[in-house]
Amino acid sequence: MPNPSDQQTTVPVEPAPAQYHPTPKEIKEQRKLAGLQVGFYDDTCPNAEKIIKEGMLRAFANDSSIAAPIPRLLLHDCFVNGCDASLFLDQTPSGARVEKLATSNGATVRGFDLIDEIKAELEAECSGIVSCSDLLAYLSRDAFVVSGVPHYDVPGGRRDGMESLEANVVGNLPLPDFTVDMLIDLFKKKGLNEEDLVVLIGAHSIGVAHCFNFLYRLDNPQKAALVDPRLAGVMKFTCTGPLNTLAFDTTTQYKMDNVYYKQLAAKRALLESDVLLNEDPRTKGYIQKFGEDEKLWFNKLSKAMNKLASIQVLTGDKGQIRKQCRSVN
Ligand code: HEM
Repeated sequence: MPNPSDQQTTVPVEPAPAQYHPTPKEIKEQRKLAGLQVGFYDDTCPNAEKIIKEGMLRAFANDSSIAAPIPRLLLHDCFVNGCDASLFLDQTPSGARVEKLATSNGATVRGFDLIDEIKAELEAECSGIVSCSDLLAYLSRDAFVVSGVPHYDVPGGRRDGMESLEANVVGNLPLPDFTVDMLIDLFKKKGLNEEDLVVLIGAHSIGVAHCFNFLYRLDNPQKAALVDPRLAGVMKFTCTGPLNTLAFDTTTQYKMDNVYYKQLAAKRALLESDVLLNEDPRTKGYIQKFGEDEKLWFNKLSKAMNKLASIQVLTGDKGQIRKQCRSVN
């Protein structure tokens, strides 16, 4: 794994003050994230981003719960061996058990069928050009945009990995009972700072969690004290079985907005790890800030997502462009 501080030098810096106009050269430099480039497919597959966006719009019109699983796939892919679409592999030439089978992935990661569908369209348009890892990075942006986040540029140029190992997952994905120290430490290893962490958990503004990921909080008086009593009632009412689900944000389940930060501050959040961020001086201030200023959060979100999507990417002649996302060529 590369040194996190090396990764941090490859990501864009804070936005320039409003009156400052960067030169074309500076813009080009800023757009090169870890060797990635905005408009990467302009010459080789000009409709690529359009096909991906339309795939998301179509799927969302049919089922509004389809947006949320996609950025989660990005997290689970990028944190384990980098953004190389290794999470999509059903098997690899080595025959080892793949990432997908790990407990932290298992039945709760979704969206693979949509990936397959869009990948087939991309192959029909321009065969062997668009990687599965770029598809995931663009589709995650589109999932957020369809949920209300303003459009932002995503650089492309990732290539797909050839290996996927269940054994690599352990210790590389955050779990809902992680302490703030553990969260900060893991994100730091991936080149993401404390602010990025709080910015990105705002993704829990959409989607659902299974009861087994939060119901345990009510069994321990110390943990239960961090659950709003009304939410505790909803948890008990809904969780008649461990596989039942509850929306992270019951008021605006399909909308990416900053309501989640306000709920977090009021202990109305499902995950213990999310609520603990509001109890720690290193992260609490960001929750308050994003709860007050949605525009600021959106701005930070686009940058943090591009940081996430550029972890340990394969570029140039490394890896391959898979024809199907579920298997290496
Ligand atoms: C910081 C540590 C994080 C932890 C501990 C965490 C944990 C979880 C858990 C336990 C679930 C519920 C899974 C289920 O029961 O089905 C979940 C769902 C989700 N997570 Fe996270 N997550 C974290 C960060 C992130 C980040 C960084 C993103 C995206 C950028 C993200 C996006 C999502 C989304 C959108 C869902 C809903 C998925 C769906 O509806 O299928 N999470 N997360």
